Amino acid sequence: MTVMEDAAPAGPVATASRMAWAKVNLTLHCTGQRADGYHLLDSLVVRVGVGDALHVAPAEILTLTISGPRAKGVPTDARNLVLRAAEMLDAGAGRGAALHLVKHLPAAAGIGGGSADAAVALELLSAHWGVPLPADTARLGADVPVCLTRGPQRMQGVGEILTPLPPLPACHIVLVNPGVDVPTPAVFAALTDKNQPPMPDVIPKFANFAEFVDFLRLQRNDLAAPAIARAPVIASCLEALSDAALARMSGSGATCFGIYATAKEAETAAHRITTAAPNWWVAAAPILVA
Ligand code: C5P
Repeated sequence: MTVMEDAAPAGPVATASRMAWAKVNLTLHCTGQRADGYHLLDSLVVRVGVGDALHVAPAEILTLTISGPRAKGVPTDARNLVLRAAEMLDAGAGRGAALHLVKHLPAAAGIGGGSADAAVALELLSAHWGVPLPADTARLGADVPVCLTRGPQRMQGVGEILTPLPPLPACHIVLVNPGVDVPTPAVFAALTDKNQPPMPDVIPKFANFAEFVDFLRLQRNDLAAPAIARAPVIASCLEALSDAALARMSGSGATCFGIYATAKEAETAAHRITTAAPNWWVAAAPILVA
C-alpha cells in the first residue's frame, strides 16, 4: 500500500467510482449521554458538493492506495475506515478489490471525511461483490449511517436515527479549516452540560433562504465552546466567515462553515479568506439540498 502524490488512480482501470461528499452539521445539539459514554445528539446534517473520490477495480486481494492534495498522513492500513468498511462487508470471505482514494477533504476535521469514504466503500463494494449492506454501519463510526444518505437529514440517537427532511432552499457554503487536529473524544469529554435542549419537534419546510437561516440562527453547535477552548484558532475561522448569513462550527471541529445565498457570494468569501490565510483549507460548494 502506497501513498502517491498525483491524483491518477493506480493499477487496474476502475470499473466504478463515486464521490464521498463532505457532511456538515448545520446544528449539533447534545441532549444526553448513554451509559456507554456515547452522546445523544440532535443534528441537522447536509452533504455539500466537495469531497473525496473512491475508485474500485477488480483484483485478487484487497488493496488501498491514496493520492490527492490531502493524502499526506492518511493511513493506508486497517486504521483507514475504507478498509474497515471493506472488511466489515467481506466478513472474512477473502474477496479482493483494488481501491483507490483521491483525498480532497482534511481528516479529523468535523466534516465526515473518513465516514463519507467508508460509506462509498460500502456502496461500491456491495455492488462490486454482490453482497448486501450490513445493518449496523454505525459500528464503523457514528457518522457512517448519515453518509449513506444524500439529502438533508435530522440525525438523532448517537447518529443512527435518521429522518429525511424536505428539500432545503438553494444555498451555498464556505468551509474553512485552520489545520489543527481536534480529537472528537476530547471535545465531547470537555462538554460540561451534556443535557441541552433538542431542536424543535418539527423541522418545517422552509419557504426561502431567509426563513431557513432564521431557523438555523436559533439553533446551536454545543461542541463549539469546548472545541474553541482547545483550539482558539477556530474562533478566528468564525470571524473570517462573519460576512456569511450564518457562521458556525461543524461536528467536533475544527472546520467552520458560512452559509451564503449565492455561489458568487460564497466564491468571493472563499477567495478573500484564502488570500488572508493561505495555510487554511478553504472550499466553496453548493449544499446538496435534496
Ligand atoms: O463513532 P466515531 O468514531 O465517529 O466517534 C468518535 C468518538 O467520538 C467516540 O469514541 C466518542 O468518544 C465520541 N462520540 C460520542 N458520541 C457520539 C459520537 C461520537 O461521544 N454520538
